[in-house]
Amino acid sequence: MRRPYTLIVSEVTIDGKLTLRRGYSSKEIMKFMDEEATRYLHQIRAKVDGIMVGAETVRTDNPFLTVRHVVGRNPIRIIPTRTANIPLDANILKSDAPTIIITTEKAPEEKVKKLEEKAEVIICGKDEIDLIHMMEILYNKGIKSLMVEGGSTLNWNLIKTGLVDEIRLIHMPFIVGGDDTPTLVGGEGFSSLEEVVKLKLRAHFIRGSHLITEWEIKFEG
Ligand SMILES: NC(=O)c1ccc[n+]([C@@H]2O[C@H](COP(=O)([O-])OP(=O)(O)OC[C@H]3O[C@@H](n4cnc5c(N)ncnc54)[C@H](OP(=O)(O)O)[C@@H]3O)[C@@H](O)[C@H]2O)c1
Repeated sequence: MRRPYTLIVSEVTIDGKLTLRRGYSSKEIMKFMDEEATRYLHQIRAKVDGIMVGAETVRTDNPFLTVRHVVGRNPIRIIPTRTANIPLDANILKSDAPTIIITTEKAPEEKVKKLEEKAEVIICGKDEIDLIHMMEILYNKGIKSLMVEGGSTLNWNLIKTGLVDEIRLIHMPFIVGGDDTPTLVGGEGFSSLEEVVKLKLRAHFIRGSHLITEWEIKFEG
């Protein structure tokens, strides 16, 4: 299958959480990320063709997903949402970078039309987004490298479908706890050791006051 080379890049606390609590913006914990680590994140954004977050991250964090802390080109923003539930004043719909909304046949036609005034909208699936087909479409549009910045539901669906090549983590030196707080990877999880995704540590280093780890996913066979 021809698909973009895909890397998940995430800020995670020592206990693997992405944010303070379910429904809270991760911008809160990112206040503790220093300039050097922020530049590391933006350097990756400047190198990739596309950047993707789940629709819940758009609704909760309202990110821009642009390159700001280094000099570089903005990647194309890609947002999967089954029902096209993206606020029309969301920052990802501003004109500073192109945006592609990936949605399904069940998205209300009126909402799709409104989004089309600000972004490209692609229908990809009946009730659920067909992630494999989505990756083919993106590849054929010239997106050969794709950075995924969460959240945990999107991370799970991409990983379980075998669509992720690398994970890069910016470690946040604190613990937030909480059974229901989103972690790096959510979803139903794997239930056997045969199924778990195996990783190889490729690099570890310090940026500012943050440990960075870079992991490659080991594909079987
Ligand atoms: N620390 C970090 O680096 C970081 C980064 C990003 C996010 N976060 C945090 O993560 C939390 C959000 O994570 P989340 O798990 O609730 O949501 P999420 O993964 O951001 O978004 C999930 C949503 O994406 C849409 N979607 C459509 N097709 C999908 C598919 N095949 N697989 C997965 N998602 C699909 C669905 O929205 P529809 O209902 O519209 O279909 C789904 O509800 C927020 O608190 C945010 O602050 C942290």
